[in-house]
Amino acid sequence: MTESDRDLVEKAREAMGRAKADYSGFSVGAAVITADGRVFTGANIEVSVFGLSMCAERVALFKAYSEGGRDIVALAVAGSTARPISPCGACRQVIWELAPDARLLLANRDGSAVAEHNPADLLPRGFFLDTDRN
Ligand code: THU
Repeated sequence: MTESDRDLVEKAREAMGRAKADYSGFSVGAAVITADGRVFTGANIEVSVFGLSMCAERVALFKAYSEGGRDIVALAVAGSTARPISPCGACRQVIWELAPDARLLLANRDGSAVAEHNPADLLPRGFFLDTDRN
């Protein structure tokens, strides 16, 4: 891992501290960085209608896109887990579409274990809204 990877993992871990996870008790943080060096963070936010809650990865990616950040080169995720977090299926589709070329840095709660992946290995044959490509 480079120094900038380590910084991004630390930003994801800091974001984890801003999770609103009062129903599950499970905090997640994420941080994305664009080619021009802009960083956007996200944390999971839970509401009382549980299905309306949102994962940290999607908060970070939607923040980036809505602020004009497009070319995402890396995405770090940190979960309150002993082993590196494994993103949920919904986030895998969103990562695959919005950050197809990103390096994924998946970390555990204290950042001592970081697994590197790419979007296609987390989601083989993701969904395309294109009848010819499916
Ligand atoms: N969660 C995330 O934020 N990211 C994931 O990849 C897995 C799950 C959140 C959703 C919910 O707030 C809590 O973790 C437990 O599922």
